[in-house]
Amino acid sequence: MPFRVPGAPRWRVVLASLLLALAPAPPALAAAQGPVERPAAPAVDAPLGRPKGAAIASANAQATDAGMAVLRAGGNAFDAAVAVSAALGLVEPESSGLGGGGFFLLRRASDGKVVFVDARERAPLAATRDMYLDPATGEPRPRQTIDGALAAAIPGLPAGLVHVSATYGRMPLGEALAPVIRLAERGWRFGDKNIAMMGWRKDVLRDDPGASALFLIDGEVPAAGTRMRNRDYADVLRRLAAEGHDGFYRGPVAQRLVDGVRAAGGIWTLEDLAQYRVVERAPLVFTHRGQAVVTAPPPSSGGVALAATLQILDGYDWANESPVDRLHLRTEAMRRAYRDRAIFLGDPDFVDVPVELLTHPAYAAGLRASISTERATPSALLPGVTRSERPDTTHFSIVDAEGNIAAVTQTVNLPYGNAMVVPGTGFLLNNEMDDFSVKPGVPNAFGLVGEDANAIAPGKRPLSSMTPTIVLGPERVSVVGTPGGSRIISMVIQGLLALDAGASAAEAVAEPRVHHQYLPDHVSIEPGALDAATRAALEARGHVVKEEPRTWGNMQVVLWHRGDGRVEAGADPRWKTVGKGSTDEGGIFR
Ligand code: GLY
Repeated sequence: MPFRVPGAPRWRVVLASLLLALAPAPPALAAAQGPVERPAAPAVDAPLGRPKGAAIASANAQATDAGMAVLRAGGNAFDAAVAVSAALGLVEPESSGLGGGGFFLLRRASDGKVVFVDARERAPLAATRDMYLDPATGEPRPRQTIDGALAAAIPGLPAGLVHVSATYGRMPLGEALAPVIRLAERGWRFGDKNIAMMGWRKDVLRDDPGASALFLIDGEVPAAGTRMRNRDYADVLRRLAAEGHDGFYRGPVAQRLVDGVRAAGGIWTLEDLAQYRVVERAPLVFTHRGQAVVTAPPPSSGGVALAATLQILDGYDWANESPVDRLHLRTEAMRRAYRDRAIFLGDPDFVDVPVELLTHPAYAAGLRASISTERATPSALLPGVTRSERPDTTHFSIVDAEGNIAAVTQTVNLPYGNAMVVPGTGFLLNNEMDDFSVKPGVPNAFGLVGEDANAIAPGKRPLSSMTPTIVLGPERVSVVGTPGGSRIISMVIQGLLALDAGASAAEAVAEPRVHHQYLPDHVSIEPGALDAATRAALEARGHVVKEEPRTWGNMQVVLWHRGDGRVEAGADPRWKTVGKGSTDEGGIFR
């Protein structure tokens, strides 16, 4: 279907959008203001009916089982989300946990309310813009945003658990956390993914007495199947259950954390913890092929880039494009969407983020107008800046038998976070400070000053790529997300396009991945992702294709077929036997 903006003369849209697409972005944004109306956001609160049962997909079978146990005990999807979140923090400590943060994207069946619970970490109040720069050289000090106490931002996940439970759950927090407390006390099984990720971080974990005592055995990586007990983790969960927010953010846990962080050279204060609050934000909602896409607003960059990319692609006759044309167009769309992230996006409580403009169909039309269907546009011709975030992170998706939905992505940033455990707490701290622009305001090769929006400031949330997403379609509801740093966005795009084409949950998570993020200017592919002919066809259009040595991501998808109520859960097969998608095929939770 040709692109159309209601009420806007076509020439004006194209002219404004061309300017937007081709000129350095900040001044050009102003050119689009005024005449172009925004189509009404799609309705997201219309009743969807009921699924036949529940489904959970997460990156760890022990976490999926904890969520299923909570549903079986009478909890709803939000209680189950609390259980899965806390369980992942225990059994997948390399990816997320109580010392980190996350985003809970929820849809409540009773009234169709959608909400984005932002439990992202915040910079400590004593943080400063240049805190990681060496005063002598003006350059970032190596590893200070990665290892140890100074790298850690103030955790948000515990507040997220309390808030989601109290506001949207059905059972007391203690009941939702009960399976996780049991698992922590009886012991969980160390697995292949725990081991693989530890390879990167073993030496730093060994240097920290708390982390070494909790995760290593005689300074070495535990063998697969080793039973890991964590009574401190169980104690912290009990405190959360008994005292709510204050159980973590005030009192003995807070005191212990602040003492431990400061003794190790960090800058946390009791005030930092006492002040921490989640923020409920309106999700970003846009239309894509007759479906309402509900996704992450800032401080995630993911939803904005997702909206731009899919709306660019919606202007093509996608069903009739060849596979190579689709890959080319997807790459070109991502190139443009990723370009904008670093310039404009940051914590919306601190900077004005032009979300309306960046997600406007007319803006997407402008970007589309700059795409040649025959040739790759060198990124060097699209002035901008880029940013990469490093992987780890984790995602899970839930639908319950009433139709409540949770899409949750949570993180401690790099594998095993900052590799520091304050003794007596049972969890790693994050290194989310690395997601800020450590040295903003330095002009890039085009003279553009990038990443100011994501400069460090006291109490500010670092920009994220986490993109939990719910698609409400006439035939299916899809719940999608993945870890993977800056590649999260391209994976979610690819997953949604696969689902549009009718993929099952298992097929969507398994699809070989292709990524482009503006700079570096190459198409990254997973090993064997493209056959020789497809690769050659892309190269003939000017794309540089780079086959990476490893796969990436860990996507977890749940589908609900609205016609017959069937549910599906697909766990990424890249970590065989670790993740698990479960459905209650017998309908035991109805
Ligand atoms: N730390 C990964 C992210 O927030 O995107």
